Amino acid sequence: MKSRPTSGVHLTGWGAYAPSQVLTNADLERMVDTNDEWIVSRTGIRERRIAGPGETTASMAAVAGLRAIATAGLGPDDIDLIIVGTLTPDYQMPSTAALVKDAIGNKRAAAMDVAAACSGFVYGYATAQAYVASGMARHVLVIGAETLSRYTDFSDRTTCILFGDGAGAVVLSASDEPGGTLGIEIRTEPSGAYFIWLPGGGSSRPPTASTIAAGEHFMKMKGAETFKMAVRTLGSTALASLSRAGIELADVDLVVPHQANIRIIEALARSLDFPMARVFVNVECYGNTSAASVPMALSEAVAAGRVKKGDRLLFVAFGSGLTSGAITLEWTADPAAFSRAADIGPEDVTVMPGYLGPVNPFPPALEWLRRDAAASSGRNPDLDVRDIKPAAKGPPAAASRPG
Ligand code: ACO
Repeated sequence: MKSRPTSGVHLTGWGAYAPSQVLTNADLERMVDTNDEWIVSRTGIRERRIAGPGETTASMAAVAGLRAIATAGLGPDDIDLIIVGTLTPDYQMPSTAALVKDAIGNKRAAAMDVAAACSGFVYGYATAQAYVASGMARHVLVIGAETLSRYTDFSDRTTCILFGDGAGAVVLSASDEPGGTLGIEIRTEPSGAYFIWLPGGGSSRPPTASTIAAGEHFMKMKGAETFKMAVRTLGSTALASLSRAGIELADVDLVVPHQANIRIIEALARSLDFPMARVFVNVECYGNTSAASVPMALSEAVAAGRVKKGDRLLFVAFGSGLTSGAITLEWTADPAAFSRAADIGPEDVTVMPGYLGPVNPFPPALEWLRRDAAASSGRNPDLDVRDIKPAAKGPPAAASRPG
């Protein structure tokens, strides 16, 4: 890696991937005691995407990552460092980033995951910024990717209505041109550490039959406490990032917030006295995709014509920890560059399998959804599962393909 510090770090590429399977509020009404009116009025969410059995966090991250690299006008081997923000890695180890490196065909990057829950993308961006600004890397791929459906208790109506799957990515590059990243603030408030958490499976509660029976492998949340802390933290973190950037909130053209809940986003805008017309919202289509939500929203905002050269953008997120983070930047890329990634899809990535053989990771509680979706498209649902290839002994030759 190079060691010459650079004066500027620019967002040069962006991309996203959402799995095709849709879980609507009407679907959830069939599973738990809830209704569309409650979900929409309390959260703004109408539907979310669910990863297919052939998809994992690494496979979705790789598609979003390849799209971001193409948008930047680069090839996979131009990337010096790959950072994946996720709370739903494929495995405890190796890192999801290591699997992504192989899946996108990069031969030279270092790769690591960042664990900051829903703030994972912003924390990853801050880490990438430091690497590029110091000269340790020239191009860094930052991905936020989640398969939350596999950590969700679909019998718990207080959480299962909130979360969805997907991935988003950006490339940060060194450049001496003006603009690019202007200010970053990242924070952690452990007083809220257990407001949203996943109790089982770590060194404090190693997985056993009893932790599984107690559902400790699913996310738990104190919704109201999380809500209040989120609103309080998001505003002050955003303002601190603007202050570091040396610009006023009035100078911001578009805020791209973490898409957890429309009421949290609206409360943030109200507390800052900032118009909702300049806040990008897509929570209705994807729910809370945790670390993926800001880069997925960014890609949609650019595709929708909401971002142009010279615009000041503010990304702001919060998550378990409780973590929060905000990035202020001046956009310098050509928004039309995303057309370079138009042909990239799941068929372009191959995640190397482990050696334990085929499993169907699809949540059993949603099995009916997968079968219904397959039947309505005339597909044999069992083919989805057979697409998860048996692991190869020795060097992995077999591949699992996202559905
Ligand atoms: N359908 C119908 N009723 C429900 C549902 C549901 N899905 N869920 C809860 N209720 C009921 C509750 O049981 C309660 O009933 P009660 O008054 O009879 O006891 C009532 O609705 C109100 O419940 P609250 O929890 O007070 O509802 P609230 O208005 O706070 O909304 C929500 C809940 C949407 C979870 C909200 O608190 C929230 O969004 N919190 C933030 C969550 C969040 O953003 N988490 C992500 C953190 S980021 C990360 O790191 C993953």
